[in-house]
Amino acid sequence: MEYSAKVMEHFMNPRNVGEMEKPSGVGTVGNAKCGDIMKVYLDIDKDGVIHDAKFKTFGCGAAVATSSMATELVKGKTVNEALEVTNKAVMEALDGLPPVKVHCSCLAEEAIHAALWDYCEKTGRKIEGLKKPVNDIDELHH
Ligand code: FES
Repeated sequence: MEYSAKVMEHFMNPRNVGEMEKPSGVGTVGNAKCGDIMKVYLDIDKDGVIHDAKFKTFGCGAAVATSSMATELVKGKTVNEALEVTNKAVMEALDGLPPVKVHCSCLAEEAIHAALWDYCEKTGRKIEGLKKPVNDIDELHH
């Protein structure tokens, strides 16, 4: 299996690993197939701009690399713009992933959506286009 240099770099030096004490939103999703879990924390200001993002995962190397990139990409974006950070966009930013690892990149996308959903529930805000997240990405058909 071939990984791009960018995937390797984010796997070896993942950005934004950690937890947050008082996140504006937090989301957890799993993948029943591989048993991996991803948790994402978002710090969002009153204007709906994401100031900080952190993640914790029991996922594989591809999950680490894609979450590292996904959390980097959502920082500085508004909650609406954050929906543009799809697993496809993340894979592109990493110069691709081997096909058998594509599902791993869905963990980051879904965990971010789950954190945004949590933020909406806490604040009563709405994000257009955001769907109720699943607990298990196996229910999705990317
Ligand atoms: Fe489970 Fe990659 S194999 S996240």
